[in-house]
Amino acid sequence: MDQQQKHRRHYSDVLEHLKTYFPSPVSDPIMDGYFVHSISRFLDQVDSLKSAKPLLGTGITNNHYQASEESTFPEHISSVEEMTELLANYCQGMTIWAHPNAQVNVIPPPTISSITAFIAAAMYNPNIISDEYSARFAEAEIQSIAMLSDLIGYNPQISGGLFTFGGTGTILYGCKLGIEKILGGRGMQEGIREDIKIFSSEVSHYSRLNVAAWLGLGTNNLVAITSTSNNEMSLSALEISLRSTLDNGDKVAVIIATLGTTDAFGIDDLAAIVHLRDRLVSEYALDYVPHVHADAVIGWAWAVFRDYDFEDNQLGFHARTLRSLTDSLERINSL
Ligand SMILES: Cc1ncc(COP(=O)(O)O)c(C=O)c1O
Repeated sequence: MDQQQKHRRHYSDVLEHLKTYFPSPVSDPIMDGYFVHSISRFLDQVDSLKSAKPLLGTGITNNHYQASEESTFPEHISSVEEMTELLANYCQGMTIWAHPNAQVNVIPPPTISSITAFIAAAMYNPNIISDEYSARFAEAEIQSIAMLSDLIGYNPQISGGLFTFGGTGTILYGCKLGIEKILGGRGMQEGIREDIKIFSSEVSHYSRLNVAAWLGLGTNNLVAITSTSNNEMSLSALEISLRSTLDNGDKVAVIIATLGTTDAFGIDDLAAIVHLRDRLVSEYALDYVPHVHADAVIGWAWAVFRDYDFEDNQLGFHARTLRSLTDSLERINSL
Protein backbone atom coordinates (compact mmCIF):
# COMPACT_ATOMS: atom_id res chain seq x y z
CA MET A 1 0.00 0.00 0.00
CA ASP A 2 1.61 3.26 -1.01
CA GLN A 3 1.67 6.32 1.22
CA GLN A 4 -1.16 8.07 -0.64
CA GLN A 5 -3.51 5.11 -0.30
CA LYS A 6 -2.74 4.79 3.40
CA HIS A 7 -4.00 8.36 4.00
CA ARG A 8 -7.10 7.95 1.90
CA ARG A 9 -10.37 8.34 3.76
CA HIS A 10 -13.80 7.75 2.38
CA TYR A 11 -15.90 10.92 2.23
CA SER A 12 -18.49 9.39 4.56
CA ASP A 13 -15.81 9.04 7.28
CA VAL A 14 -14.71 12.62 6.74
CA LEU A 15 -18.34 13.72 6.95
CA GLU A 16 -18.90 11.89 10.25
CA HIS A 17 -15.85 13.65 11.65
CA LEU A 18 -16.97 17.04 10.31
CA LYS A 19 -20.34 16.70 12.03
CA THR A 20 -18.59 16.83 15.42
CA TYR A 21 -17.71 20.46 14.63
CA PHE A 22 -21.37 21.51 14.76
CA PRO A 23 -23.88 21.64 17.60
CA SER A 24 -26.14 18.66 17.08
CA PRO A 25 -29.27 19.59 15.09
CA VAL A 26 -31.23 16.86 16.90
CA SER A 27 -31.18 16.31 20.62
CA ASP A 28 -28.03 14.34 21.45
CA PRO A 29 -26.98 14.51 25.12
CA ILE A 30 -23.36 13.59 24.37
CA MET A 31 -22.88 16.18 21.62
CA ASP A 32 -24.88 18.76 23.58
CA GLY A 33 -22.54 18.16 26.54
CA TYR A 34 -19.52 18.55 24.25
CA PHE A 35 -20.91 21.85 22.95
CA VAL A 36 -21.49 23.27 26.44
CA HIS A 37 -18.10 21.97 27.56
CA SER A 38 -16.38 23.72 24.59
CA ILE A 39 -17.96 27.06 25.49
CA SER A 40 -17.11 26.53 29.14
CA ARG A 41 -13.45 25.80 28.20
CA PHE A 42 -13.35 29.04 26.23
CA LEU A 43 -14.73 30.98 29.21
CA ASP A 44 -12.17 29.34 31.52
CA GLN A 45 -9.32 30.22 29.19
CA VAL A 46 -10.46 33.82 28.87
CA ASP A 47 -11.01 33.97 32.63
CA SER A 48 -7.37 33.08 33.19
CA LEU A 49 -6.44 36.27 31.27
CA LYS A 50 -8.19 38.49 33.85
CA SER A 51 -6.29 40.55 36.43
CA ALA A 52 -6.47 43.89 38.26
CA LYS A 53 -5.79 45.51 34.89
CA PRO A 54 -8.87 46.34 32.82
CA LEU A 55 -7.42 44.20 30.04
CA LEU A 56 -7.55 40.58 29.00
CA GLY A 57 -3.96 39.36 29.34
CA THR A 58 -1.30 41.94 28.75
CA GLY A 59 -1.38 44.77 26.23
CA ILE A 60 -0.11 43.71 22.83
CA THR A 61 1.44 45.63 19.98
CA ASN A 62 -0.41 45.41 16.70
CA ASN A 63 1.35 43.75 13.85
CA HIS A 64 -1.37 43.67 11.22
CA TYR A 65 0.91 43.86 8.18
CA GLN A 66 3.08 40.99 9.34
CA ALA A 67 -0.11 39.01 10.09
CA SER A 68 -1.21 39.19 6.46
CA GLU A 69 2.25 38.18 5.22
CA GLU A 70 2.32 35.08 7.43
CA SER A 71 -1.21 33.83 6.76
CA THR A 72 -1.93 31.27 4.09
CA PHE A 73 -5.03 29.10 3.76
CA PRO A 74 -4.47 26.13 6.11
CA GLU A 75 -4.00 22.68 4.62
CA HIS A 76 -5.61 20.85 7.57
CA ILE A 77 -8.63 21.54 9.74
CA SER A 78 -7.92 22.48 13.36
CA SER A 79 -9.75 20.67 16.15
CA VAL A 80 -12.49 22.43 18.15
CA GLU A 81 -10.09 22.40 21.14
CA GLU A 82 -7.31 24.05 19.12
CA MET A 83 -9.74 26.65 17.81
CA THR A 84 -11.01 27.37 21.34
CA GLU A 85 -7.47 28.06 22.48
CA LEU A 86 -6.80 30.18 19.41
CA LEU A 87 -9.98 32.23 19.95
CA ALA A 88 -9.13 32.83 23.61
CA ASN A 89 -5.69 33.98 22.44
CA TYR A 90 -7.24 36.51 20.06
CA CYS A 91 -8.94 38.06 23.11
CA GLN A 92 -5.48 39.04 24.43
CA GLY A 93 -5.11 42.76 24.95
CA MET A 94 -8.82 43.59 24.75
CA THR A 95 -10.29 46.12 27.15
CA ILE A 96 -12.86 44.81 29.63
CA TRP A 97 -15.27 47.74 29.42
CA ALA A 98 -17.06 47.01 32.71
CA HIS A 99 -13.88 46.31 34.71
CA PRO A 100 -13.87 48.23 38.01
CA ASN A 101 -10.52 49.77 37.01
CA ALA A 102 -11.64 50.77 33.49
CA GLN A 103 -12.52 54.37 32.74
CA VAL A 104 -13.80 54.07 29.22
CA ASN A 105 -16.75 56.07 28.03
CA VAL A 106 -19.64 55.05 25.81
CA ILE A 107 -18.92 51.36 25.11
CA PRO A 108 -21.43 49.30 27.11
CA PRO A 109 -20.98 45.81 28.52
CA PRO A 110 -23.52 43.18 27.37
CA THR A 111 -25.97 41.57 29.81
CA ILE A 112 -26.25 37.80 30.22
CA SER A 113 -29.59 37.88 28.39
CA SER A 114 -28.17 39.81 25.47
CA ILE A 115 -25.34 37.27 25.21
CA THR A 116 -27.95 34.50 25.22
CA ALA A 117 -29.71 36.35 22.39
CA PHE A 118 -26.41 36.43 20.48
CA ILE A 119 -26.07 32.68 20.99
CA ALA A 120 -29.64 32.13 19.77
CA ALA A 121 -28.97 34.20 16.66
CA ALA A 122 -25.58 32.56 16.06
CA MET A 123 -26.94 29.03 16.46
CA TYR A 124 -30.19 29.30 14.56
CA ASN A 125 -29.20 31.95 12.03
CA PRO A 126 -32.64 33.59 11.89
CA ASN A 127 -33.78 34.60 8.44
CA ILE A 128 -36.67 37.07 8.40
CA ILE A 129 -37.02 37.14 4.64
CA SER A 130 -40.33 35.35 5.03
CA ASP A 131 -42.56 34.86 8.06
CA GLU A 132 -42.36 31.08 7.99
CA TYR A 133 -38.63 31.04 8.75
CA SER A 134 -38.16 33.06 11.93
CA ALA A 135 -41.45 34.81 12.63
CA ARG A 136 -40.76 35.37 16.31
CA PHE A 137 -37.47 37.12 15.58
CA ALA A 138 -39.36 39.54 13.31
CA GLU A 139 -41.91 39.95 16.11
CA ALA A 140 -39.11 40.71 18.58
CA GLU A 141 -37.95 43.57 16.33
CA ILE A 142 -41.48 45.02 16.19
CA GLN A 143 -41.94 44.63 19.96
CA SER A 144 -38.56 46.20 20.77
CA ILE A 145 -39.33 49.17 18.54
CA ALA A 146 -42.76 49.60 20.14
CA MET A 147 -41.12 49.51 23.60
CA LEU A 148 -38.51 52.10 22.58
CA SER A 149 -41.21 54.28 21.01
CA ASP A 150 -43.10 54.16 24.29
CA LEU A 151 -39.93 55.01 26.21
CA ILE A 152 -39.28 58.07 24.05
CA GLY A 153 -42.94 59.13 24.24
CA TYR A 154 -44.15 58.28 20.71
CA ASN A 155 -47.41 56.44 20.20
CA PRO A 156 -46.25 52.81 19.66
CA GLN A 157 -49.41 52.12 17.64
CA ILE A 158 -48.50 54.53 14.88
CA SER A 159 -44.72 54.85 15.08
CA GLY A 160 -42.37 52.43 13.40
CA GLY A 161 -38.73 51.63 12.93
CA LEU A 162 -36.22 48.96 12.17
CA PHE A 163 -32.98 47.51 13.47
CA THR A 164 -29.86 48.79 11.74
CA PHE A 165 -26.20 47.85 11.73
CA GLY A 166 -25.37 50.26 14.56
CA GLY A 167 -25.22 54.03 14.83
CA THR A 168 -23.92 54.69 11.33
CA GLY A 169 -26.98 52.80 10.06
CA THR A 170 -29.35 55.14 11.91
CA ILE A 171 -27.75 58.19 10.29
CA LEU A 172 -27.78 56.44 6.91
CA TYR A 173 -31.55 55.88 7.14
CA GLY A 174 -32.18 59.41 8.48
CA CYS A 175 -30.23 61.03 5.65
CA LYS A 176 -31.75 58.73 3.02
CA LEU A 177 -35.21 59.82 4.22
CA GLY A 178 -34.24 63.49 3.89
CA ILE A 179 -32.80 62.97 0.40
CA GLU A 180 -35.87 61.06 -0.81
CA LYS A 181 -38.18 63.73 0.63
CA ILE A 182 -36.47 66.28 -1.63
CA LEU A 183 -36.41 63.96 -4.62
CA GLY A 184 -40.02 62.87 -4.13
CA GLY A 185 -38.88 59.26 -3.76
CA ARG A 186 -37.27 59.18 -7.23
CA GLY A 187 -33.71 58.85 -5.94
CA MET A 188 -34.02 55.06 -5.69
CA GLN A 189 -34.37 54.84 -9.48
CA GLU A 190 -32.73 57.98 -10.80
CA GLY A 191 -29.94 58.49 -8.27
CA ILE A 192 -28.93 61.90 -7.02
CA ARG A 193 -28.35 64.39 -9.84
CA GLU A 194 -27.89 67.59 -7.87
CA ASP A 195 -25.88 68.96 -4.96
CA ILE A 196 -28.00 68.79 -1.84
CA LYS A 197 -26.60 69.52 1.58
CA ILE A 198 -26.44 67.84 4.97
CA PHE A 199 -25.82 70.07 8.00
CA SER A 200 -24.46 68.93 11.34
CA SER A 201 -22.26 70.29 14.09
CA GLU A 202 -18.50 70.00 13.74
CA VAL A 203 -18.47 67.70 16.78
CA SER A 204 -21.16 65.36 15.42
CA HIS A 205 -20.08 61.77 14.80
CA TYR A 206 -17.68 61.19 11.91
CA SER A 207 -19.98 58.51 10.49
CA ARG A 208 -21.67 61.43 8.62
CA LEU A 209 -18.68 61.24 6.26
CA ASN A 210 -19.33 57.56 5.43
CA VAL A 211 -23.05 58.23 5.06
CA ALA A 212 -22.58 61.15 2.63
CA ALA A 213 -20.08 59.11 0.63
CA TRP A 214 -22.11 55.87 0.59
CA LEU A 215 -25.36 57.61 -0.38
CA GLY A 216 -23.63 59.13 -3.40
CA LEU A 217 -24.08 62.65 -2.08
CA GLY A 218 -20.36 63.20 -1.56
CA THR A 219 -18.61 64.53 1.50
CA ASN A 220 -18.26 67.96 -0.19
CA ASN A 221 -21.98 68.38 0.45
CA LEU A 222 -21.55 68.10 4.22
CA VAL A 223 -21.66 71.40 6.07
CA ALA A 224 -20.03 71.41 9.52
CA ILE A 225 -21.44 74.05 11.87
CA THR A 226 -19.28 75.42 14.67
CA SER A 227 -20.08 74.24 18.17
CA THR A 228 -20.28 76.22 21.42
CA SER A 229 -18.23 75.66 24.57
CA ASN A 230 -21.03 73.27 25.64
CA ASN A 231 -20.27 71.12 22.60
CA GLU A 232 -23.65 71.89 21.06
CA MET A 233 -24.31 73.23 17.58
CA SER A 234 -24.27 77.04 17.49
CA LEU A 235 -27.80 78.07 16.46
CA SER A 236 -26.66 81.43 15.12
CA ALA A 237 -23.94 79.78 13.00
CA LEU A 238 -26.53 77.26 11.75
CA GLU A 239 -28.94 80.03 10.77
CA ILE A 240 -26.23 81.98 8.90
CA SER A 241 -25.11 78.86 7.06
CA LEU A 242 -28.67 77.73 6.16
CA ARG A 243 -29.51 81.21 4.87
CA SER A 244 -26.40 81.37 2.75
CA THR A 245 -27.18 77.92 1.25
CA LEU A 246 -30.80 78.86 0.50
CA ASP A 247 -29.78 82.31 -0.85
CA ASN A 248 -27.49 80.43 -3.27
CA GLY A 249 -30.47 78.42 -4.48
CA ASP A 250 -29.03 75.18 -3.02
CA LYS A 251 -31.17 72.60 -1.25
CA VAL A 252 -30.98 71.45 2.37
CA ALA A 253 -31.72 67.73 2.63
CA VAL A 254 -31.00 67.08 6.28
CA ILE A 255 -30.04 68.82 9.49
CA ILE A 256 -28.51 66.30 11.90
CA ALA A 257 -29.02 67.25 15.54
CA THR A 258 -26.74 65.28 17.83
CA LEU A 259 -28.49 64.32 21.07
CA GLY A 260 -25.38 63.40 22.99
CA THR A 261 -21.99 63.72 21.28
CA THR A 262 -19.83 60.64 21.63
CA ASP A 263 -17.29 61.79 24.18
CA ALA A 264 -18.32 65.13 25.72
CA PHE A 265 -22.09 64.46 25.63
CA GLY A 266 -22.96 67.83 24.11
CA ILE A 267 -26.71 67.92 23.36
CA ASP A 268 -27.98 70.01 20.45
CA ASP A 269 -31.12 72.06 20.96
CA LEU A 270 -33.41 69.92 18.79
CA ALA A 271 -36.58 71.94 19.47
CA ALA A 272 -34.84 75.20 18.49
CA ILE A 273 -33.40 73.57 15.33
CA VAL A 274 -36.88 72.40 14.27
CA HIS A 275 -38.27 75.87 15.03
CA LEU A 276 -35.52 77.51 12.92
CA ARG A 277 -36.15 75.03 10.08
CA ASP A 278 -39.90 75.80 10.12
CA ARG A 279 -39.26 79.54 10.15
CA LEU A 280 -36.94 79.33 7.12
CA VAL A 281 -39.31 77.01 5.22
CA SER A 282 -42.04 79.62 5.47
CA GLU A 283 -39.77 82.64 4.93
CA TYR A 284 -38.18 81.16 1.77
CA ALA A 285 -41.49 79.55 0.72
CA LEU A 286 -39.69 76.24 0.17
CA ASP A 287 -41.65 73.53 -1.63
CA TYR A 288 -40.01 70.88 0.56
CA VAL A 289 -39.30 70.56 4.27
CA PRO A 290 -35.67 69.81 5.19
CA HIS A 291 -35.59 66.65 7.27
CA VAL A 292 -34.30 66.92 10.83
CA HIS A 293 -32.56 63.73 11.98
CA ALA A 294 -31.87 63.35 15.70
CA ASP A 295 -28.75 61.28 16.31
CA ALA A 296 -29.69 59.90 19.72
CA VAL A 297 -27.32 56.94 19.47
CA ILE A 298 -25.86 57.91 22.84
CA GLY A 299 -28.58 60.12 24.35
CA TRP A 300 -31.63 57.84 23.98
CA ALA A 301 -30.80 56.01 27.21
CA TRP A 302 -31.53 59.17 29.25
CA ALA A 303 -35.18 58.74 28.25
CA VAL A 304 -35.53 56.14 31.03
CA PHE A 305 -35.74 59.13 33.39
CA ARG A 306 -38.66 60.74 31.56
CA ASP A 307 -41.12 59.63 34.22
CA TYR A 308 -38.73 59.90 37.18
CA ASP A 309 -40.13 61.93 40.04
CA PHE A 310 -37.26 64.37 40.62
CA GLU A 311 -38.99 65.89 43.64
CA ASP A 312 -39.44 62.59 45.43
CA ASN A 313 -36.06 61.26 44.15
CA GLN A 314 -36.82 57.66 45.12
CA LEU A 315 -33.38 56.42 44.05
CA GLY A 316 -31.66 58.95 46.34
CA PHE A 317 -29.43 60.58 43.70
CA HIS A 318 -27.11 63.40 44.82
CA ALA A 319 -28.28 66.95 44.05
CA ARG A 320 -25.49 67.31 41.43
CA THR A 321 -26.63 64.16 39.65
CA LEU A 322 -30.24 65.36 39.69
CA ARG A 323 -29.23 68.70 38.16
CA SER A 324 -27.23 67.00 35.47
CA LEU A 325 -30.07 64.57 34.71
CA THR A 326 -32.74 67.28 34.50
CA ASP A 327 -30.50 69.44 32.28
CA SER A 328 -29.93 66.57 29.86
CA LEU A 329 -33.55 65.43 29.98
CA GLU A 330 -34.81 68.88 29.05
CA ARG A 331 -33.09 68.42 25.69
CA ILE A 332 -33.68 64.66 25.28
CA ASN A 333 -37.42 65.24 25.83
CA SER A 334 -37.55 67.06 22.50
CA LEU A 335 -37.15 63.71 20.77
C1 LIG B 1 -23.38 60.02 18.51
C2 LIG B 1 -22.96 58.86 17.65
N1 LIG B 1 -23.53 58.69 16.43
C3 LIG B 1 -23.19 57.67 15.62
C4 LIG B 1 -22.24 56.72 16.01
C5 LIG B 1 -21.86 55.61 15.08
O1 LIG B 1 -22.19 54.38 15.64
P1 LIG B 1 -21.55 53.02 15.09
O2 LIG B 1 -20.11 53.05 15.45
O3 LIG B 1 -22.33 51.96 15.82
O4 LIG B 1 -21.78 52.97 13.61
C6 LIG B 1 -21.65 56.84 17.27
C7 LIG B 1 -20.64 55.87 17.73
O5 LIG B 1 -20.06 55.98 18.79
C8 LIG B 1 -22.00 57.94 18.11
O6 LIG B 1 -21.44 58.11 19.31
